[in-house]
Amino acid sequence: MDIAQVVDLLDDLLFDKTGLHLDFIQKSVLEGTLQDQTYAEIALKSGYSESHVGDTASDLWKLLSQLLGEKVRKANVKAILEKTNFSSAIISNTSSNITVTNNINLCSNNTYPNNNSPPTQKKSIPKLHLNNAPKFPYFYGRNNELSTLKDWIINQQIHLITIFGISGIGKTAIALHLINEIPQHFDYIIYRSLYFSPSLTTTLTNLLQIFSPLEIPNDIESQINLFIDYLTQYQCLIILDDIQNLFTNQKLAGTWQTDRTSYNLLFQAIAQSSHNSNIILLSQEKWQEIQQLEKSNYPIKSLILSGLDSDTAEILHHQNLENEELWSQLITIYQGHPLWLDFTATLILHLYAGNVSQFLEYNQLIVPEGVRSHLDRQWQKLAPTEQTIMLQLAQETAPIGISKITHKIDLVATEIVNSILSLKMRFLLETETTENGNFISLIPILKEYIKSRYLLNLPDKGYNN
Ligand SMILES: Nc1ncnc2c1ncn2[C@@H]1O[C@H](COP(=O)(O)OP(=O)(O)OP(=O)(O)O)[C@@H](O)[C@H]1O
Ligand SMILES: [Mg+2]
Repeated sequence: MDIAQVVDLLDDLLFDKTGLHLDFIQKSVLEGTLQDQTYAEIALKSGYSESHVGDTASDLWKLLSQLLGEKVRKANVKAILEKTNFSSAIISNTSSNITVTNNINLCSNNTYPNNNSPPTQKKSIPKLHLNNAPKFPYFYGRNNELSTLKDWIINQQIHLITIFGISGIGKTAIALHLINEIPQHFDYIIYRSLYFSPSLTTTLTNLLQIFSPLEIPNDIESQINLFIDYLTQYQCLIILDDIQNLFTNQKLAGTWQTDRTSYNLLFQAIAQSSHNSNIILLSQEKWQEIQQLEKSNYPIKSLILSGLDSDTAEILHHQNLENEELWSQLITIYQGHPLWLDFTATLILHLYAGNVSQFLEYNQLIVPEGVRSHLDRQWQKLAPTEQTIMLQLAQETAPIGISKITHKIDLVATEIVNSILSLKMRFLLETETTENGNFISLIPILKEYIKSRYLLNLPDKGYNN
């Protein structure tokens, strides 16, 4: 057994689940035990008293029992670690990290001898308020995006981060996964979905109650001020999901519901005040005010999520598909969109017994029913002028110039241009700039969806069905 390597792997597993590392004495106990030393020998070597080593060991075996799912003692720790597959333990348990974080206290009674300084990481465990956060069983890839987010949060202290992308691309998944990676930086980690379009005062009251249930002012201005005070007093990571549900359906992107515009006051205050916290907003569409804020010098950044790359072919692993060598083709065809890939994999499993090769024999792009109904919901949110442009684009065989499309559609130019911009703000258009001008097009799957849904002999399908 390579003891140093095993200790490192165990440390990785612990960090993956709790955001905390083994400290010096825990490592000493572990290494000594794996070298068959007694507690007295470990104490002598590490400079701690024998009783402290014994207490630390007893806590450590309990911790390892929780981590590894079987009773660990000094007598059996070596045998258990020898048979543990650490990489699969880390991957298979990522979704349960936070629960474990809540249950363990790594450094309860540690004291440090004179020549050993305490570990540098923050030792408190954050208070988690993830009530209605969805649970995702798998998470693959997104390493670059995660590094960017961590850099913005930890190194650049960006107060307000927006993560944009079309529905199902993985905004909620990446934000929740991020929590697993950096919990040690925060006093509070909070997730709230605005799916049901709550008023600002409902959202603020809900958030303020987390910090102090007693003193909640009635007016919005005082609520915002108090909220910012808490963001200053504590280091908080707050994820506000489904911002797009604050906007009006069948209007251009980012058109606020009349009584929800006050959210801009909150976002402005978060961006412009000096505090110690990070707020992440997740939305399927951009809005004007956030774009204006982004142009300022305030600490705001936005990340636009596109599909997973074909290196993340293992996203199809749990579906038990065959022909692994073809999985990256599927990922390319369905633009690395995790939800579309999931629907497609299910279809292949049910209809082709998992044989990807047979499915790919079609010369035509297939839009599985799950994808269609998912896209139906996006389609119904569009303004009629946006639908008109999408219908025109679905009939084009190549990217078309913006000025050219205005001649093909029976609408005034202002309507057309604003609607194109709106579709861009929803990430539904591909745009490309060449020396011949600016061109727009639809990604193949959207094109196929519109053609099969609205343009090809389906008379019962009105635009808003
Ligand atoms: N990196 C990933 N690895 C594996 N699965 C993923 C990944 N990202 C997303 N998924 C899966 O794709 C599905 C959609 O993800 P998610 O709900 O995060 O999308 P979203 O962008 O938040 O969508 P919406 O805007 O509709 O809320 C989920 O089932 C999730 O498990
Ligand atoms: Mg989401």
